[in-house]
This record gives sequence, C-alpha cells and structure tokens, in this order.
Amino acid sequence: MKILGIETSCDDTGIAIYDSIFGLIFNKTLSQSLIHNKYGGIVPEIAARKHLLNIIKLVKNTFKKTNININEISAVAYTAGPGLAGSLLVGSTFGLSLSYSLNIPAIPINHMEAHLLSVMMEKKCPIFPFLVLLVSGKHTQLIYAKKIGKYYLLGESLDDSAGEAFDKISKELGLKYPGGPEISKISRFGMLNKYIFPKPMINRKDLNFSFSGLKTSVINFIKKFSFLNFQIKADIANAFENSVIDVLVSKCERAIKKMSLNRLVVAGGVSSNILLRKKLKNLLFKYKGDVYFPRSKFCTDNGAMIAYLGFLKFKKKNFVSNLKIKVYPKWKIYK
Ligand code: KG4
Ligand code: ZN
Repeated sequence: MKILGIETSCDDTGIAIYDSIFGLIFNKTLSQSLIHNKYGGIVPEIAARKHLLNIIKLVKNTFKKTNININEISAVAYTAGPGLAGSLLVGSTFGLSLSYSLNIPAIPINHMEAHLLSVMMEKKCPIFPFLVLLVSGKHTQLIYAKKIGKYYLLGESLDDSAGEAFDKISKELGLKYPGGPEISKISRFGMLNKYIFPKPMINRKDLNFSFSGLKTSVINFIKKFSFLNFQIKADIANAFENSVIDVLVSKCERAIKKMSLNRLVVAGGVSSNILLRKKLKNLLFKYKGDVYFPRSKFCTDNGAMIAYLGFLKFKKKNFVSNLKIKVYPKWKIYK
C-alpha cells in the first residue's frame, strides 16, 4: 500500500510517498525561502500562490521519477492545519480533489502531530510514553505523549516561539530568512560570553516559555551600534543562540524531573539546531535516558512526515469518507 503525502502549511511545498513495505520511497520539498527572503519573512498571499504553481509540478514529477502509476496510491494525506489558511487551502483542495478523482480516501493531517511522530521513521526511535519538545516556526511546546493520538500539554510559549525569535533577530542582523540556520552558522564565529542576554523564565518552576522580552532586549542592543561588522554580528548571534537554547534545555530538564521520564523527542524546525542537539544529548546522558531527533531534513517542513502519519491512520482505518474542504489554522493536538 502506498500513501501520498502533501504538505503546504507554510512556505515549503512537500510531496512524499510512504510505502507499507519499503517505507519512505519518495520525498521532495520545494522551498520558497528565496522569494520570501526579499521581504524578511513569509508573505501569506505569495506563499499560497506559489504553492499552487509548485504542487502540480511536484506531483507530476513524483510519478514520472518514481515510475509509480498514480492508480497504485491507496490514500492521499494532506496537511489541514495548523498553518497559514491560504497555504493550507491549496494543499487541502488539491489533496481532496485528487482523492475524489482516484476514488480513494483523503486523510487530513495535523502538521504538529506529523512533526511529533516524524522521529518514528528513524532507526533510533522511542517507545511510548515520552516527552516532546516541539519547536517550530510558530510553536514552542513541551508535550507528554502517552500514545499515538494522546498528547498532553505540559507548557508552551506565552508569546513568541523560539523559531520566531531566531527569524526576527536574523532579520535585525541583516541575515537571511529562515533565521535559525543563519544565526547558527554565524554564531560559530562568535566569542562565548562576549555579550550576555536574558534567559526569560529560566528560574520559573513551570514549563512555560517566553521569548518576546529576549527578542526586544537583543533588538535594543543591536540599535546601539551604528555599524555591525561580521564579528559583532557573530558575537550577538552567539549570545542570543545560547540564551534561547539554555532556556529550552532547562525547561526540558524540569519536565524530565516533573514527569520522571527520561525519553525526550525533539521535533520541528528548531530541532535541527546543532547546539540544542548537543546540549540535550548531554542532559539526557545525565538522566541515563535518551534523546531522539528526526534527521535534519525531516526537522523542517516536509511531505514525508505527512505521508507517514497518513499511513498510520490508513492502517488503523482512522479516516472518514465524503470529506468537505476545511482547514484548521489553529488546530491543537493536545487535550
Ligand atoms: O517546522 P518548521 O520548518 O516550520 C513550521 O512548522 O513553522 O520550522 C521553521 C522554524 C523557523 O523559525 C526557522 O528559523 C527554524 O525553524 N529553524 C532553526 C534552525 N533551522 C530552522 N532554528 C534554529 N536553528 C536551526 N538550525
Ligand atoms: Zn512545521
């Protein structure tokens, strides 16, 4: 059985095919970052229009490249939320129309649940229950995952997400979008502790986060310079990255202690951050547990995780017929 996965929640168009025997057999992502770069962030109308052009091209290419006949597909899984309404509508309309034309089920997928479970495609994957640090462009959450479909929120950002802070500071430093990889790259040339920025809520016992104060403090600091040379940018990026990562790691430690659970999954775009990975590996080593990450290209948005979750749902007959087109820009996965 083969499941087609379609991802269009934000600015990446992703298509993948997951096979019940061979696993992931195709995965391709078309990034729009070069276009949105000019604006320093995503322009929703442009993202939706670009998805429309990309998706048809991508799907046609998928079947040409893999030599798979479109009639071999058993179901179409597509991201129905959360995300940008216009972007979600393109993938959902396309996915649903394709499923009607092939007379096969359509399976709406929650993008954040797909991120959370993407680690299950890896050789090294956890057994339930486990803790999850979900860190994407819009979300910073700590979740207790009891089993597939049963998730409980332990804490989340009360304002900006960590990813948003990375993107904003990157823009202020004159770097590209998305900001996370840019900050991370330049931060390696920065001097540790040259500057020190706040680590918001690090001493609070709860598992919530806040990044908007840190963001403002870094922006105000940047404004003091009339010119930013490479070294100053690198030192600022280094201090900022360390603040964000230290807060994330410290809240993970609190969650480990609070839940007496030493299996941690980290997913979403920010989980590809090398410093975060290193510090979390050390943390879980201290608690004699393990940390699990999807491979880097499955941390950011992709069709593979959508096809995979579609496969899990199809196997369990967890879908309904005669679906109508509906998207859920704020869809939550937890109780
Ligand atoms: O999961 P994702 O691709 O899209 C959403 O679902 O939102 O996450 C995108 C976010 C962006 O904010 C981007 O700057 C951040 O992930 N990101 C990173 C890194 N790579 C991507 N943040 C820190 N370090 C990275 N290496
Ligand atoms: Zn995502």
